[in-house]
Amino acid sequence: MCGIVGYVGSGEAKDFLLEGLKRLEYRGYDSAGVALIEKEKLRVVRAVGRVSELEGKTEIFSHPSHTGIAHTRWATHGKPSEKNAHPHSDCHGKISLVHNGIIENYLTLKEKLTKKGHRFRSETDSEVIAHLIEENMKTKGENFEKALLATLKCLKGTYGLAIIAKDSPGKLWVARMGSPLVIGVGNGENYIASDVSAMLSSTRKVVYLEDGEWAEVTAEGYAVKRGIKTASKVAVDVEWSEEVARKEGYAHFMIKEIFEQPESIAHAFRGRMEIEEGLARLGGLREVKERLRGIKRLLIVSCGTSYYAGLVGEYMIEEYAGIPVEVEFASEFRYRKPLIDKDTAVLVISQSGETADTLAALREAKQKGALTLGIVNVVGSTIARETNAGVYNHAGPEVSVASTKALTSQLTILALLTVYLGRQRGMSATMGKRILEELSAIPKKVEKILQLAPLLKRLAKKYQNTETLLYLGRKYQYPIALEGALKIKEIAYVGVQGYPTGEMKHGPIAVIDSKALVVLLIPQDSVFEKSLSGMQEILARGARVLALTTEGKDLIPKHKNVEVLKIPKTLEMLLPMLSVVPLQLFAYYMSLAKGYDVDKPRNLAKSVTVE
Ligand code: M6R
Repeated sequence: MCGIVGYVGSGEAKDFLLEGLKRLEYRGYDSAGVALIEKEKLRVVRAVGRVSELEGKTEIFSHPSHTGIAHTRWATHGKPSEKNAHPHSDCHGKISLVHNGIIENYLTLKEKLTKKGHRFRSETDSEVIAHLIEENMKTKGENFEKALLATLKCLKGTYGLAIIAKDSPGKLWVARMGSPLVIGVGNGENYIASDVSAMLSSTRKVVYLEDGEWAEVTAEGYAVKRGIKTASKVAVDVEWSEEVARKEGYAHFMIKEIFEQPESIAHAFRGRMEIEEGLARLGGLREVKERLRGIKRLLIVSCGTSYYAGLVGEYMIEEYAGIPVEVEFASEFRYRKPLIDKDTAVLVISQSGETADTLAALREAKQKGALTLGIVNVVGSTIARETNAGVYNHAGPEVSVASTKALTSQLTILALLTVYLGRQRGMSATMGKRILEELSAIPKKVEKILQLAPLLKRLAKKYQNTETLLYLGRKYQYPIALEGALKIKEIAYVGVQGYPTGEMKHGPIAVIDSKALVVLLIPQDSVFEKSLSGMQEILARGARVLALTTEGKDLIPKHKNVEVLKIPKTLEMLLPMLSVVPLQLFAYYMSLAKGYDVDKPRNLAKSVTVE
C-alpha cells in the first residue's frame, strides 16, 4: 500500500503535494518523492525515509509550478531506496508517474522493453508503466491518451496511477484498477489522491473512480472514461473528519484492517500460484531453491501472533511436505543452545521485521550456519535484509497494535510454502492444485464471514463482563484458540486462556463452572468428534459455549447454553484463515463495548524493538 497525490491548478502544486503526502503517510512511509512541471521542465526529487526528509530536498524547486504528482511508498518490489522511490520516468524524462498497487506481469514487460532498448533505473514493477507509455507513444502517433489506453490494456495486477507529461503542462491523468483513487474538485484547481484524507483541507467535493476507469484532470475540470467511452460521474460531498477519512470511514485501524483481509490475502498469493501445474512460485526463494530441496528439518522462530502463524505452518508443512518442523518463541530460542546443522533451515516470521527477539534469534541461527528464511511484511526491514532468502506478505501497513491482516497473509504464505516444499518432495501436482484452488477461494469466504460482524458485536456486548473465558481448539484450530485469546488479552484486558481442547481435562477444566464462557473452535474437520466430546464435558459443568463450526449439516447438538456461529468450508489446513476472523471481530467489539482504546492498547507497542 502506498499513497499518491496530484495537483493541477493556478496555485502552488508543491505546497498541496507535500501537505497531502503527510496526511497519507499512514499508507506507507519508507520513501517519498515528488515530480513537478516547472518552466516546461519535468523535475523529480526523491528521498528515503519519511515525507519530512523529502520536504528538505524540495528547496531546489525555485520556480512556481502548477502541475505535479507525489508518492509515499510502502515497498513491495525493490528495497526502500532513492532509486526505487516514485515518481518513475521513461528513458527521456518526458513522463513521470506514481503508482499504488502491484503489476504482476512486470518481469515479462520489462524483458520485452529492455530488448527494445529501454533503460531501467529501478527494481520496481511500477517503472515498466512509464516505459510502456513511452513505447506506445511511438506507435500511437505521439497521442498520449491512446498510448495510455494501450498501456493499461497490457497491465495485469492492480494500480492506482497518476501521470504527468512534460509536453502537457496543466494536465494530469489518473487510472484505477484495484487500488483506490479519488478526484477532488476545487475552484480553478483540482486534486487527486489515494484517499480523501489527503485533500480535505482543500475540498470536500470528490469523485470516486471505479475499477477500469481513467480520467484526464485539468484546472478547469475532469473527464472520466471507461475505455474510450465517457463515464458520467457525480461529485459527492464528504462529511468525514480527517481522522475518520484516514481510516476510510472505519472507527479504528483494527476494524479497517480486519475488513481489508479479503484484499490482503489476495495480495499475498497474487502472481505466486501456477494452479494448473499445482506449483507455488516464490521468487524470493529462487536463490536457495536447491538448498531447500535438501533440508531435513525446519525450525520456525517468532513472537506473538507471528508465532501462532508458525504453529499452523508446522501442521501444514509436516502433513503435506513431510519435513519435521519445530516452532519456538524467539525469546527462548536466543538464550538456549539450539541444535542446528547444515540440513536445518530456520524460518523467522515477523510482521514488522524489527522485533528484537526475532532478530536476535535470526542472528544466532545464522551464526550457527543455518539457512535462514523470512516471512516479513515490511520490505527492507532489518529481518528482511538479514535473512538468506524470504517471501514478503504484501499485506500493506498494519497500523493497529493488535495484529490481524498480517496473520492471515502469513498463513497464506505458509500455505504457498507448503506447496513449494511439498512439490520438491512427494506431493502430487493434483494435491498442489487442490491446495492452490482452495487458497484462491479464501478471500470470497472471508468476505462472507465479515458479514457476521453485527452478530459478533451483539455477542461481545452480551459477554463483555465474563470473568472466566477459555478458548479451545484442536489440531489446526489450536493455534487459532491461542490467537483468539491473545486478541482478547491485548485489547479487552481479560485474563483469558487459550488451550488445546484435548488438554482441557488435564487442568483448565477446574476453572469451568456456570459463570464461564468457552469459545470452542469446532469445525467439521478430522477431529470433529473428539472436539464434540470436549464440548459435552464443558456443558456438563454448566458453562456457556460459543461454538464456531463450519457450514453443512447441523452436527452440533442443540443446547440452551450453546450459541453456534458458522463459517464456510475449506481444506482443513486453510481453515485457520477463516476461523480467526470471527475471533478478531469478537475481540474488537468486546474492547469497544468496554470503552477501551482499540488501536492503542495499554502497555503495548506495535513493534517490540527492545528485549
Ligand atoms: O512484528 P512481529 O510480527 O515480529 O511482532 C510479533 C509480536 O510482537 C506481535 O505479533 C504481537 O504479539 C501483536 N501485538 C499481536 O497482536
